[in-house]
Amino acid sequence: MRTDANESDHAAGGNRPDANRNGHDVNGDDLDRNPGFAAAVAAGRAGSHNGTAPPSQELVPDDFRETLSSIPTAVTIVTTIAGGRPHATTVSAFSSLSVDPPLVMIALSRSSDLLGMLERGCRFGVNLLSAGQEQLGRTCALKGQDKLASVPWYEVDGLPRIEDCAGWLTCEVWDLVPGGDHVIVLGLITGCESARQASPLIYHRRRYFDFVA
Ligand SMILES: Cc1cc2nc3c(=O)[nH]c(=O)nc-3n(C[C@H](O)[C@H](O)[C@H](O)COP(=O)(O)O)c2cc1C
Repeated sequence: MRTDANESDHAAGGNRPDANRNGHDVNGDDLDRNPGFAAAVAAGRAGSHNGTAPPSQELVPDDFRETLSSIPTAVTIVTTIAGGRPHATTVSAFSSLSVDPPLVMIALSRSSDLLGMLERGCRFGVNLLSAGQEQLGRTCALKGQDKLASVPWYEVDGLPRIEDCAGWLTCEVWDLVPGGDHVIVLGLITGCESARQASPLIYHRRRYFDFVA
């Protein structure tokens, strides 16, 4: 099964200033404290970390977006409750990270309202969408406060859990790491559950697919 989606570009940046509890400056002022990294940025090899030469061809943004969109990803809805209100955001930049301690990571645009809530210390839940739940992916990719109004969910451990998902994690914010126009949120897993029979929803080239084993 395949359906079109048109809300795929989550690379737009914003200007939320903040620093995390482990001292990473999510504004990028780390450049000032790390002359080596600043030199690497000036030399055009920031992020390579191994001193290799920059690519000879200039990077074309459309090629970059097209190439990255060709990587199939799971689709998650990351939820929290802030000021007594539930909030939800569609996130495909989700990955497992560490077993000991048990960590996952998500990358959120600096313009994300959810990011502001996590920066203020809110815990978060990760709902791994099942095949057939693409409408949820679309709904939670919108902006606004009431994205969960028409979504079936219930509260677990103080966090919104969406019905019939393929997997569920509860997390505390472990660290916030700057990542260009995004911030990488490291989450310490405090609880998890998977529905073994459920197939996940996949996102690939701006379209949703039901995974078939
Ligand atoms: C399939 C899909 C995956 C997305 N993945 C991410 C992501 O990993 N990180 C992100 O910041 N935004 C992502 N977005 C965009 C956000 O869902 C969107 O910008 C949303 O409006 C942000 O909501 P918020 O400001 O309430 O956090 C994705 C959108 C879609 C449709």
